Amino acid sequence: MPKTKIAGIGYYVPKQIISNNDLLQYMETSDEWIQERTGIKERRYAHRTEETTTTMGVEAAKIAIERAGITKDDIDFIIFATLSPDYYFPGCGVLLQRAMKMGEVGALDIRNQCSGFIYSLSVADQFIKTGMYKNILIVASEKHSFGLDFSTRGRNISVIFGDGAGAVVLQPTEVANQGILSTHLHSDGESAEMLAMFNPGTHANHWMDQPAADFEDASIGQMFMSHQMIDKAQNFPNMDGPAVFKKAVVKFPEVISEALIKNNLLPKDLNLLIPHQANLRIAQYVQKKLQLTDDQVFNNIDKYGNTTAASIPIALCEAWEQGKVKDGDLICLAAFGSGFTWGSALMRW
Ligand code: UT7
Repeated sequence: MPKTKIAGIGYYVPKQIISNNDLLQYMETSDEWIQERTGIKERRYAHRTEETTTTMGVEAAKIAIERAGITKDDIDFIIFATLSPDYYFPGCGVLLQRAMKMGEVGALDIRNQCSGFIYSLSVADQFIKTGMYKNILIVASEKHSFGLDFSTRGRNISVIFGDGAGAVVLQPTEVANQGILSTHLHSDGESAEMLAMFNPGTHANHWMDQPAADFEDASIGQMFMSHQMIDKAQNFPNMDGPAVFKKAVVKFPEVISEALIKNNLLPKDLNLLIPHQANLRIAQYVQKKLQLTDDQVFNNIDKYGNTTAASIPIALCEAWEQGKVKDGDLICLAAFGSGFTWGSALMRW
């Protein structure tokens, strides 16, 4: 059975750089607080009208396809991971297929937030290994800036997120020392509301520890999104930051170790760990816990903030462009986020 290799990789970030100090015009915060608590110095925001999650994904995809040495017409399956889609439905997969004028290939949307890229990689790996597809395009893209609470009320979340996109082309490989060794996926829905955007949604408070008043007053057609919901900022992401942090620092090392143990490898064998860029403090904790050196971990959250599904392919691409990912290197990708969902992928480049 063949293994799956990354044959081409690309990323795209919008031109507009937003420093921590730029955020002071919207909310009470400080460069010092943001840097100390998250490691973020600046992030990118997409053009308000000219760029969408899909258009950014297209730019990243074009680079990945070119670097794979193929054309868009060779792609036989599309996977698109995002939590900030252009439309509630249909998903960005078909919008990308249309924008790139691709053939009538399958397009799958993955909604796993921060671990969306790892889940996408795992799904694609199964298709490639079984021989079903030969050139799968995975695109992970986020336009967070369009849907954040920029008032002081939402500052714990809005300061950490940024926009951007990453993409890879996956192909089969028979080379002995190359390809994905294993992927590991997990979830725990008990904490679904700890990092969530509640509306628009069909929940009618069914899962939420809150009164159903918003819905009782609403007429049938308004239940999806009412004025009260907007007043309560339920149309923005909500997060219990410290609770998410506590879980993340346990699950990241756990799922990385799971991948290493499965392949009879040790942390010292890793050439590079690329953790989802959620918070530099989380990445540093994971590094310490696994006793990894600075050279073994790649972070770029200082420049881009947390780009959710896109953070791993953006970081992997930057590391590759900087010569930090070489043929035969042992690379681990790991993510944890909303759901909760988390996962890892171990590969030889
Ligand atoms: O990628 C998806 C997964 N997400 C994560 O992994 C995120 C995990 N969580 C975190 O990274 C951190 O919890 C945050 C960076 C989001 C927040 O950092 P924290 O150290 O946990 O802060 P906190 O929420 O406990 O708030 C501490 C204080 C509060 O003030 P008081 O009550 O102590 O007076 C907040 O109001 O910091 C205040 N605060 C801020 N101050 C200035 C919260 N956000 C800000 C801000 N600027 N932007």
